[in-house]
Amino acid sequence: MTDEHSTDEGRKSGGGAMGSAHRGKVLGVTISAALGGLLFGFDTSVINGAVDSIQHTFDLGSAAIGFTVAITLIGCAIGAWFAGQLADAWGRKPVMVLAAILFVASSIASGLAFADWFLMLWRFIGGLAIGIASVIAPAYIGEIAPAKLRGALSSLQQLAITLGIFLALLSDAALAGSEGNAMRQLWFGLPAWRWMLLVGVIPALVYGILSLSIPESPQFLVRKGRKDEARSVVSEVTGAIDIDRRISEIEESLENASRARYRDLRGTALGLQPILWVGLGMAAFQQLVGINAIFYYSTTLWKSVGFSSSDSFVTSVITSVINVVLTFVAILFVDRVGRKALLLWGSAGMFVGLVLASVSFSQAHMSGKTVTLPEPWGVIALIGANLFVIFFAATWGPVMWVVLGEVFPNRIRGLGLGIAAACNWVFNFLVTLLFPVLSQAVGLGWVYAGFALFAALSFWFVFSALPEVTGLELEDKTKLEHLHRERTA
Ligand code: GLC
Repeated sequence: MTDEHSTDEGRKSGGGAMGSAHRGKVLGVTISAALGGLLFGFDTSVINGAVDSIQHTFDLGSAAIGFTVAITLIGCAIGAWFAGQLADAWGRKPVMVLAAILFVASSIASGLAFADWFLMLWRFIGGLAIGIASVIAPAYIGEIAPAKLRGALSSLQQLAITLGIFLALLSDAALAGSEGNAMRQLWFGLPAWRWMLLVGVIPALVYGILSLSIPESPQFLVRKGRKDEARSVVSEVTGAIDIDRRISEIEESLENASRARYRDLRGTALGLQPILWVGLGMAAFQQLVGINAIFYYSTTLWKSVGFSSSDSFVTSVITSVINVVLTFVAILFVDRVGRKALLLWGSAGMFVGLVLASVSFSQAHMSGKTVTLPEPWGVIALIGANLFVIFFAATWGPVMWVVLGEVFPNRIRGLGLGIAAACNWVFNFLVTLLFPVLSQAVGLGWVYAGFALFAALSFWFVFSALPEVTGLELEDKTKLEHLHRERTA
């Protein structure tokens, strides 16, 4: 366990002494790991442009097509669940390479799929890759980054996710051609929808190649007794001055355990360690505010309240750009303002945006089969939804992943992070599946009111349960976790 003195030293050795060469190095390895985020964003969103054509090609009913989309998210949850354990057994780097191989294989196989079951199988395998990438990036970046820069560097993963979502939107639109028909538009004899899936091979290959070139995480090396290698990674990547102290801090924080097991997660709060509940809660709330109801359904959402096709597409592009750009707010402020403050602002802002959207959507009325949103409610709905995205992108989007990468004590990080990320994917799956059904049943207005309620609850959750870990080396949090356990037990 570290004392106050070593905490200060840890800060100095971790971040203060970084020269620009080391900053470049740490940024380089972070970007390589964060590329997994680009694939996460790209592969979850790319199906949007292809879905109608897939339905026609394989003559699928609405349940079957819904299943084809949702099965990826089930794969994500399973991939995330096991990723942490695999990363503890094999190392962070081989798991990244595994994800890259699965990404490449699933893009090719699903793009060339000859039958519906084959497509579903490979979309599921693609989901495994996405789930793995969603865990391994925060785990690796959290471990390799010096404390002072950890929040900013970890937020690069979310920047990559948002870029991936944006690129998928653009690539789908470009491939669908001027008529916007992904089935009739052919490229080299293959319909556009197949290319939409196939182009994912390019970022996947880049990710694979870069993963091979980065060093293993020092925490993993120490865990495996490979201390010399850990020492050289710490000195090469972070340029820490007191390398031996860093290594012994890591050693102590691992508490001599070679590998965490499920029973290590047991604790006093409803049978689990309180810190695991914190991770699970953060993961669930990030989805329960309904972000993917916007991203996965954006074009249909705006059409459903009477926007024209082209207006709906432009709106989706604008929302997606906002999502990318606002992530920089988190990158700039997360280490200065702190995780908790950003998240609290985020919950409050999302609440306001969601209430505006909810009130506006509830003004929609149907005449025959056409839905319209009378002015000024159309504009207010747009403002509300984008306000929500602004606050999400600047806070909960990136910071949730930052927190998952750092809030668990070293010894159980892989396991805890994997389980919390799986929880994020399960809630993503539930929201994605239920959103269209609930919107039909009770109307968009009430569904958004539900999202607003979760935004309010997320404020309370962060305020009362999340420990502040900004600026601490990961090793210090072993102590922090004990404090937290005492507080909540
Ligand atoms: C976060 C969420 C993801 C969402 C994305 C939107 O990464 O975890 O589900 O699609 O933000 O930017």
